[in-house]
Amino acid sequence: ASAPVMSGPKLGFQPVPLSDADTVTVPEGYVAQVLQAWGEPVGVAGNLPAFRHDGRNTAAEQAVQMGMHHDGLAFFPLQGSDRGLLAMNHEYGDHGLLFADGGREWGPEQVAKSQAAHGLSVCEIARQADGSWAAVRPSRYARRVTLQTPFAVGGPAAGHPLMQTAADPSGRRVLGTLANCAASRTPWGTYLSGEENFIGYFLGPNRPNAHEARWGLRPGEPWGYRWAEHDARFDASAHPHEPNRFGWVVELDPFDPSSTPVKRTALGRAAHEGATVALTKDGRAVVYSGEDARFESIYKFVSRDRVKPGGAQANATLLDHGTLYVARFDADGTGRWLPLVHGQGGLTREAGFADQGEVLIKARQASDRLGATKMDRPEWIAVDPQGQVYVTLTNNSQRGAPGRPGVDAANPRENNTGGHILRWREDGDFDGETFRWEHFVLAGDPAAERTDARGRMKGPRDAAAFACPDGLWVDGRGVLWIQTDMSSSEMGAGVAFLEKDSANPPPPGPRELVKLGNNAMLAADPATGEIRRFFVGPVGAEITGIDMTPDGRTMFVNIQHPGETPGDRSDPANPRAFSNWPDHRADGRPRSATVAIRKRDGGLIGT
Ligand code: FEO
Ligand code: CA
Ligand code: CA
Ligand code: CA
Repeated sequence: ASAPVMSGPKLGFQPVPLSDADTVTVPEGYVAQVLQAWGEPVGVAGNLPAFRHDGRNTAAEQAVQMGMHHDGLAFFPLQGSDRGLLAMNHEYGDHGLLFADGGREWGPEQVAKSQAAHGLSVCEIARQADGSWAAVRPSRYARRVTLQTPFAVGGPAAGHPLMQTAADPSGRRVLGTLANCAASRTPWGTYLSGEENFIGYFLGPNRPNAHEARWGLRPGEPWGYRWAEHDARFDASAHPHEPNRFGWVVELDPFDPSSTPVKRTALGRAAHEGATVALTKDGRAVVYSGEDARFESIYKFVSRDRVKPGGAQANATLLDHGTLYVARFDADGTGRWLPLVHGQGGLTREAGFADQGEVLIKARQASDRLGATKMDRPEWIAVDPQGQVYVTLTNNSQRGAPGRPGVDAANPRENNTGGHILRWREDGDFDGETFRWEHFVLAGDPAAERTDARGRMKGPRDAAAFACPDGLWVDGRGVLWIQTDMSSSEMGAGVAFLEKDSANPPPPGPRELVKLGNNAMLAADPATGEIRRFFVGPVGAEITGIDMTPDGRTMFVNIQHPGETPGDRSDPANPRAFSNWPDHRADGRPRSATVAIRKRDGGLIGT
């Protein structure tokens, strides 16, 4: 949050009630507007193909259109709060929507289009005379980053033998990024994005070795992307090091469309949700990052050098030098950052870590060895003006299941279907090696029968109840914004609650009934713990990605996977909830999109 800290009432709006309507709902006095849906031209000059609602855009067209499944975003001002760049992630593809025939015909063109629907977008937007926002097209900043965009590799794993492939013997040039989830803007003006569920894109070998197994690589093609059939690098048997080249935090300079984005290996390899930067008093970068997978960890990187004035170029190697730590949460409310440093804590050659590069590539194995706390799916991390660090732990139905870790102080609920938010304060500055932590809120429906599924939030159920916190951000006034990701599309209908950690399918057995309506965004007062629902999304969508203009008067959020519908959409017997947001065309398809939210009177968001 780089906006100035303003005074005034923290939460001054009327709470939005629970809803299962196929629309976006904002408080009275606010207006929401759709921007830059999947398939809109990103704005590359001379190449502005219109979206085809029938799914017949080509791969080449998709490569200059907004990708699918908008996730984390950040606003980069070009002209105060009137004009700027929106950078965003496109987390995954949905072939049922991407192709006119749902992906039945399969060849190189289909793989290319699927890959072009992934990655990042940078587009220019400007405020209009009436206060609304519009895309600027063409724009000299407009850019798509896809699976074909060359990335450099920075940090200790650059060039490592485990990063080398037949196509890249240098181990320093990777094509593309994928599974990009949370995002943030760094104090030096770049964009950070996490490569989260990368493993599901790889065709696994019949007998995965111990390293591959620890990262969830399994025999066969788990998620149905079928890229390996026409892009051999996604066949992990033929190209066993290619998966090592994903699972990084990537950094992009949105102001220079010709710049080469970089995979920052010093921050460790993980199913990174995203990365959030805080600054020490002497100006070093501290990067917090959660690994969103069941029983994985929370990381922090402390840069060796200080942030320099001069933006992206002056700080081009800032995130390549420093120390990576993993968190241990102790039962007495304290915690310790354990350094992932080769030669320390048993991270030796004998233990399977030849050098620092291997420690970083095998960060999960290193964290196991150090005794890091295995968390309930750490997602976004946010830092408030008082220096408190918050993390969403979205859910973990396997906590306490047979053969899986039981509860611990930080993850206190068995079959944790509702998730929780935990916060800590470092001892000393952000680079402190110890901290004090507490739970901020235990999420879930307060009316749930099972004790461990019950939400314990401050505020009446109709105004404050939520489950499965995911997106998390602190605005310039110090308000903590919480975005939810209850899966899958049925919460509106109040049917079964399903999790969608596909690398780790949920155990069989009954699920919680969740009757909290569609996914939502809530505002929380960090001082009092009061929580108030601000926004409800359309059917089947998750709310993710959040930023504001520097003046705090426009908020941008992303709507991901409206109408997320497991099973065959064309099957009338499929009883799942259906969305046609935002176009609501009979011949259309639901589209992820950005929503710009303003107060009708032009006031500060949330007041
Ligand atoms: Fe892609 Fe952890 O949400
Ligand atoms: Ca997420
Ligand atoms: Ca999630
Ligand atoms: Ca998602």
